[in-house]
Amino acid sequence: MSASRREVIDVPTASRAYEVVCGRALLDELGTMVRPLVKGDSLLIVTDSHVWPLYGQRVADSLRASGFSINVFVFEAGEAQKNLQTYATCLEVMAQSGLTRDDAVVALGGGVVGDLGGFAAATYMRGITVVQVPTSLLAMVDSSVGGKTAVDLQGGKNLAGAFLQPALVLEDVEALATLSPALLMDAFGEIIKHGVLAGPELFNAIAENPVTAPLMGAVDCSALDFDRMAALVSANVRVKRDVVVEDERESGLRQTLNLGHTIGHAIEAASNYTLGHGSCVAAGLAILCRGATAHGLTPAPVTRAILRCIEAYGLPTHANVPADAIIERLRADKKRHGSTVNAVIVRFLGDVEVVPMDIDRFAEIVRAGLSS
Ligand code: GLY
Repeated sequence: MSASRREVIDVPTASRAYEVVCGRALLDELGTMVRPLVKGDSLLIVTDSHVWPLYGQRVADSLRASGFSINVFVFEAGEAQKNLQTYATCLEVMAQSGLTRDDAVVALGGGVVGDLGGFAAATYMRGITVVQVPTSLLAMVDSSVGGKTAVDLQGGKNLAGAFLQPALVLEDVEALATLSPALLMDAFGEIIKHGVLAGPELFNAIAENPVTAPLMGAVDCSALDFDRMAALVSANVRVKRDVVVEDERESGLRQTLNLGHTIGHAIEAASNYTLGHGSCVAAGLAILCRGATAHGLTPAPVTRAILRCIEAYGLPTHANVPADAIIERLRADKKRHGSTVNAVIVRFLGDVEVVPMDIDRFAEIVRAGLSS
């Protein structure tokens, strides 16, 4: 293990400035980093049944060594638990633990844990501090940064939520070693999206010589090059940071992070959430770009480069979903504005535009993307 490679990325959003610390062998330093950020002495670790046995003790020991008293809320792993019942239980555990406004939640796990723990922190006593400790690649490059927190309702995903920027995001890429290769690969849907947003330099670094090559046939991700992973994760965090610092509450620029998501969410729902989020975003991006190329909006060579990159990571570029199912969901989408939709269109690598568009026109793009 090496403690040498780490990067500290400043995230100065309007509501709070914080750091994302990304590197290797960082988990044992959590207590030292959290201590100056929390006035009180009590912390609740929110985590799930998969992550707690792997990293819980190390994290709790590190926090205790910095003088915190620790309570733990462990819920059953899985997206199905990101609901109002688990959220309510979490709040009750916070109250029973005697957490005050000066205390904090430490969300240790993947996106479900971060979203739920963050939402509980955002609403307990009208808001207390949250520290995000993501352990999945998707959470490291996306959901732990930017302050979106939520739980799902029966009416849809992430429908109850709040913005709460964390006090710190600690990303120890060595925690990725225990992930299944399939889960790690899935996150490349979001990583490729970030490459498209950032421009040719990051996009080509992702597309050429995939960092996931050593995982062929592996049962876990321990064969990853963790120094390369740290560099890749940091680069992704910087892309997201640059967007959320400009537009914390998604009134404009942040909508570009939804690239590929409108179609991707429909694919995810049609698969009954059996297809991973990143895979659905990858397919959504591919369908969008093909359709946009057919309508003269995205140059064909750009679309070809994106499709090749998605294929290089073994992610889908097509989806077995009828166009009407996607359009229907689009009409019901919470991010729709009247009869228009904010389509996120790729002009070139590094040049992505939010284009308000009549739903019927967007529907034609989706149809073209599905049939080409
Ligand atoms: N995952 C998109 C965002 O945080 O805005």
